[in-house]
Amino acid sequence: MPHRTEDIEIGLLLEALYQRYHYDFRHYARASIKRRLLQARSHFNMSSVTALQERVLHDPEMLPRLLGFLTVQVSEMFRDPSYFRALREQVLPHLRTYPSLKVWIAGCSAGEELYSMAILFREEGLLDRTLFYATDINPEALKAAEAGIYPMDRLRKFTENHQKSGGKSSLSDYYTADYGRAVFDKSLRNNVVFSDHSLVTDAVFAEMQLISCRNVMIYFDRGLQDRAVGLFKDSLTRHGFLGVGSKESLRFSRHASAFSEFVPEEKIYRKREP
Ligand SMILES: C[S@@+](CC[C@H](N)C(=O)[O-])C[C@H]1O[C@@H](n2cnc3c(N)ncnc32)[C@H](O)[C@@H]1O
Repeated sequence: MPHRTEDIEIGLLLEALYQRYHYDFRHYARASIKRRLLQARSHFNMSSVTALQERVLHDPEMLPRLLGFLTVQVSEMFRDPSYFRALREQVLPHLRTYPSLKVWIAGCSAGEELYSMAILFREEGLLDRTLFYATDINPEALKAAEAGIYPMDRLRKFTENHQKSGGKSSLSDYYTADYGRAVFDKSLRNNVVFSDHSLVTDAVFAEMQLISCRNVMIYFDRGLQDRAVGLFKDSLTRHGFLGVGSKESLRFSRHASAFSEFVPEEKIYRKREP
């Protein structure tokens, strides 16, 4: 039971956001939501969380700005290179046997993970037969993902990660440098559907062979994590693969028995026979 005024205000603001805009942060891990809301309160120079609530209820333009605080956008290309190496060496040989593929990047942020996956699939000769779904709840992030443009100073790290992941080409083959920015090749997103989709409030997506949802469920409470894993289970084809973040796990999930550990050290799971 919350008893500090601030905790009550935070609960009310999250309820208001849900009722007014259908964004549901009510069951995100509360400590980090609180930290980020308090940052937003000082950033917008508000005297209280209730003042912030009043503003966002009456001014829809505040919503994307507040979402910028409530969702964490940290990402990089080929983040955790060993994960992408495991996909390349252990998962793709199975995917290669399908004539067409569907891959869902859930919580794609500004597209770093999507472009990494597209490059990996191109290097392995699977890009042309793959349809990618890249989803997120943050509209600004989805717009950035669709543009595929990153500041040049991030490319050094991306390039290093790509090499460590077993990259077979040079990352610079996939972008052109333009006034301090790297503009990624449009052909990488020929077969990508970008879509607003929430793991909290929306339904099953489609019949996927691979779902990669990394560093998203870490912000959810246990009940929400279960909901998301249930969605993944129902969105995967028979023997489909699910990859989660290095600090995430299905171990305590209600749906754990529906999956086997495929590459345990990289948190890659495979759906079992029903
Ligand atoms: C830390 S980023 C992870 C980006 C990328 N997957 C990675 O691992 O680098 C978390 C992303 O999850 C998104 N997100 C948060 N809640 C979500 C939800 N309910 N459904 C879908 N995406 C969500 C955020 O907007 C953010 O873009």
